[in-house]
Order: sequence, then C-alpha cells, then structure tokens
Amino acid sequence: MDVSKLMYRDGLLDGERILVTGGGTGLGREMTEAFLKLGATVYICGRRQNMLDDTAGELMAKYGGKVVGHACDIRDADAIHEMVDAIWADGGAVTGVVNNAAGNFISRTEDLSVNGFNAISDIVFRGTFYVTLDIGKRLIEEKKKASFLSILTTWVWNGGPFVVPSAMSKSAINTMTQSLAVEWGRYGLRFNAIAPGLFPTEGMSARLSPGGRGDNSSDRMNPMGRHGEMHELANLAVFLMGPGAEWVNGQTIAIDGAGYQANSGNFWQTLSPLGDAEWEQMRAMIKGTNAKDKAQRST
Ligand code: HXC
Repeated sequence: MDVSKLMYRDGLLDGERILVTGGGTGLGREMTEAFLKLGATVYICGRRQNMLDDTAGELMAKYGGKVVGHACDIRDADAIHEMVDAIWADGGAVTGVVNNAAGNFISRTEDLSVNGFNAISDIVFRGTFYVTLDIGKRLIEEKKKASFLSILTTWVWNGGPFVVPSAMSKSAINTMTQSLAVEWGRYGLRFNAIAPGLFPTEGMSARLSPGGRGDNSSDRMNPMGRHGEMHELANLAVFLMGPGAEWVNGQTIAIDGAGYQANSGNFWQTLSPLGDAEWEQMRAMIKGTNAKDKAQRST
C-alpha cells in the first residue's frame, strides 16, 4: 500500500487496541499496516503462525509500534477464547475488532459437499459470530466502548452465484451488523461493515480466479476502469474504526467504483458459460492452493 495516500494525521489511533482477524495476509494485512502506522497496537490472528510472525516483524520494522500474532482458527470458539484471554492479559480490552478472516472458493453449487459448505460457513458465518460474541461479552461486562467492522461483499445485496456459501454467510454477518448496532448501541459498541469490490490479493485470486477465470469485476468492466487500491480501503476502515465519527453505526458501505450497480459485481456473467472440463480444472487448481496453505498451518 502507498501509505503516503492515507488521509489521516500520525497519532490518530494512539491508544487504540485493534484485533484484525486474518490480519497476516491480504486485506487484513493492509488494514493492519494502516492502523499501526497511525499509532494503534494491532493483534492479528490466522492459522499460520509463521505468516503472522513475518507480517508482524516486517510491519514493526517499518513503523515501530506493536503488532502481535496469535495462531487461531476462528472456527474453534475455545481457541478464540484463549486468544482473547491473552490479548486482555497484554493490556486490557480492545477498542476495535475487524472481522476480516474469510474463506471462499468458486464452485457450481451442485458440486459442493456438506464439508465444502461448512469449510466456508464455519469460518465466515460461525467464526465471525464467535469472535464478536466472545469480545462483546467482555466489553459489556467491563463497560468499555468499541468499534466492530466486518469485511463483507456487495453480494450481500444481490446474491453471489458460484460462491453461495460465502454470499449466504456474509449476508448473515450483514444482518448481525444491523442487529447488534441496535442491540448493543446502548453499551457504546458500534457495528459497521465494508463491502469491497475487487482489491486483488493472492488468497482471493487463487480461489476466485484460478488460472485467470471468474474475474468478473475486471478493470475493464468497472465504471471507473480499474480495481480498488489498498489505501482506499484502508482510509475507509480507519474512518470507521477511529475516533471522530462514532455516531456511524449499523452501516454497510460499498467501495467498488460502483461496480455492482453497473454489472452485478458477481460471477454470473463470467462463470455461467463454463462447462464440466473447465470446472474440473479450476477445482484442481483451488485444491492445490488449499493443500499448500494447509501444510503451513500451525493450528
Ligand atoms: C469444491 C471444494 C473445493 C473446490 C475445497 N473443497 N475446495 N469443493 N470445489 N474448489 C471442499 C473439499 O473437497 C472438502 O470437502 C471441503 O471443501 C474442505 O476442504 P479443505 O481443503 O479440507 O478445507 P480447509 O483446509 O478447511 O480450507 C478452507 C477453505 C480454504 C475455505 C476451503 O479455501 C481456505 O482456507 N481459505 C482461506 C483463504 C481464502 O479463501 N481467501 C479468499 C477469501 S475471498 P470434502 O467433501 O471433499 O471433504 C472472500 C471474498 C472475496 O472471502 C470477495 C471478492 C469480491
């Protein structure tokens, strides 16, 4: 990310303590970088300790400050509880949570197994709720304020053909955002979400566009003729997490160059023409990526 394009003064997030799930890679890493640069202490979790340590080390070398990595699979509520205990023991309550961790792959829905559905929904739907519940209870008990931000997609408004478990799960988190914004607003807990369009990352491209397939929100099709740039996402995330706009609550904000209004922002147009052979090929590529990631996992 080009941090010179962050809109905020240094020190804006001094004293903030933010957990970013999936913060070791992809969009989570970009937001972590922005929060750290602006003064926050950032806790990141993911399934690969080596990846978390590398990210924490690289970012601290660049900006100073503190990033702490916890290996934690958010599908496991007990592991979340242990991680949150450790964060609390390291300086008390968090002031912010970014529900960013996700899993996804493109597939015809008729090709999915129950395990395939669960692999995604257990992360996105259940895992996000487990993190929110564990931390929310503690904050309510301690009468501490915080901002929760969930990273969704524009599919929460118009559906996600060929990524149905992800679209269903993210829609549920959209509903969680709206519901808890109201229910827990009285505790000073606020809930917002960002629905990004295409911000290319390695994890996403490997599973949503294996071999270059499925790239529906390509630069060409976007009204603004390009994909998103990381500082644009980071600027919106800081706005929603930082001090000064606390009355923003219960909102899901798209950042996609108006892509979804223009062309649905989903995979219908590019993936619907594909046949068995192409799907088989893409499945093999995605499973290769999954196996490689799995071999590096520490939890
Ligand atoms: C059909 C598949 C499959 C595929 C896996 N499965 N890949 N089925 N087509 N391409 C099935 C497997 O066969 C198995 O079912 C089940 O899913 C679990 O597979 P595992 O490999 O054991 O899963 P696991 O190791 O738990 O990995 C979870 C994962 C993986 C979700 C499958 O992709 C992952 O860890 N992803 C994290 C990173 C990521 O996805 N990033 C992209 C996020 S992008 P069976 O029945 O065989 O046992 C995003 C939104 C982007 O979220 C929005 C853009 C606009």
